[in-house]
Amino acid sequence: MGLPSSFALPAFFEGRLSLPLIAAPMFLVSGPELVIACCKAGIVGTFPAKNQRTLEGLEEWLEEITHALAQLEADTGKKPAPFGVNLIVHKTNKILKEELELCTRYKVPLIITSLGAVPDLVETVHDYGGIVFHDVVNMRHAQKAKEAGVDGIIAVCAGAGGHSGQASPFGLIGEIRQIFEGCIILSGALSTGRDIAAAHMMGADFAYMGTRFINTAECMASNAYKQMISEARMGDILLTDKVTGINANFIRQSLEQAGMNPDELAPHGKLDIDKELSEAHNPKQNSIKPWRDLWSAGHGVGQITSSPPVAELVSQLKAEFHAASTAQLKDSQKYL
Ligand SMILES: Cc1cc2nc3c(=O)[nH]c(=O)nc-3n(C[C@H](O)[C@H](O)[C@H](O)COP(=O)(O)O)c2cc1C
Repeated sequence: MGLPSSFALPAFFEGRLSLPLIAAPMFLVSGPELVIACCKAGIVGTFPAKNQRTLEGLEEWLEEITHALAQLEADTGKKPAPFGVNLIVHKTNKILKEELELCTRYKVPLIITSLGAVPDLVETVHDYGGIVFHDVVNMRHAQKAKEAGVDGIIAVCAGAGGHSGQASPFGLIGEIRQIFEGCIILSGALSTGRDIAAAHMMGADFAYMGTRFINTAECMASNAYKQMISEARMGDILLTDKVTGINANFIRQSLEQAGMNPDELAPHGKLDIDKELSEAHNPKQNSIKPWRDLWSAGHGVGQITSSPPVAELVSQLKAEFHAASTAQLKDSQKYL
């Protein structure tokens, strides 16, 4: 749907979406309740496989989501939006193969890969009828993703929550479109329906929103985290590699609350993603842990002041998206 895009949405999206929107996967905060509510409201719900500590736990969630969505379809006669699972493709993820096997068994419609883009994984997902979107922060990664045969490239631009890029969305989307005919997804600081319309105008096929969905009733984040997001402004977001070893955006107040000075952080050693994620899950770890105790958010925080149920948020985003798109069309006629 992006203007210069020649991309046709994969068949399983057709007639199932109320907005070109993906609720992005977020460590420790997106779970089945959020995914099901998103798909029910007609947007793509996702979660990271690492939100479960074990493969048994991951299977339970896949079972819960696929069962709930099938039930919804049986009850309403309407297909809910497809859902997605985020897999970390990195040598420190020792159970990637098993995670992929489970996703294959449950025919997860959308796999979102982070870090590595691997042709074998793409082939496995295509074989069962799924598609693969891959996260990138620059053109070198976009080129690798294209070569791996992914169906979509997620441009993680400046101001994104979690591990953020630093590129301008105008520059990155434009250059990706020059080399890639697949689906382009824009990530970073999108919070409103107007932002979705703007992503569309820019040439993205989908908008990708993380932080906005932390502040929903169905999200697993604590009320204190949601409250901090409601009060935070863009100036409170700190981009630093000193918390995890690679650049990520954190809310300064969450560092201060943990007794740290955001302006005097000690350097972090090399990224060990598996260690970092498993420690954050472990209640026995009583030192300060990123993601669990240090809270991440993107530059879009200033637009977020409430935590409505997903259905209400999606209705609001739809109204804003249509109002902005209509106004844009009307305005453009002034310059003919
Ligand atoms: C708390 C938090 C955790 C995240 N965890 C993950 C993750 O596990 N995997 C992933 O691919 N992206 C992760 N992200 C990035 C999001 O998927 C998405 O790219 C980002 O939130 C978009 O920017 P926004 O938050 O400004 O909307 C995370 C983001 C946040 C805010």
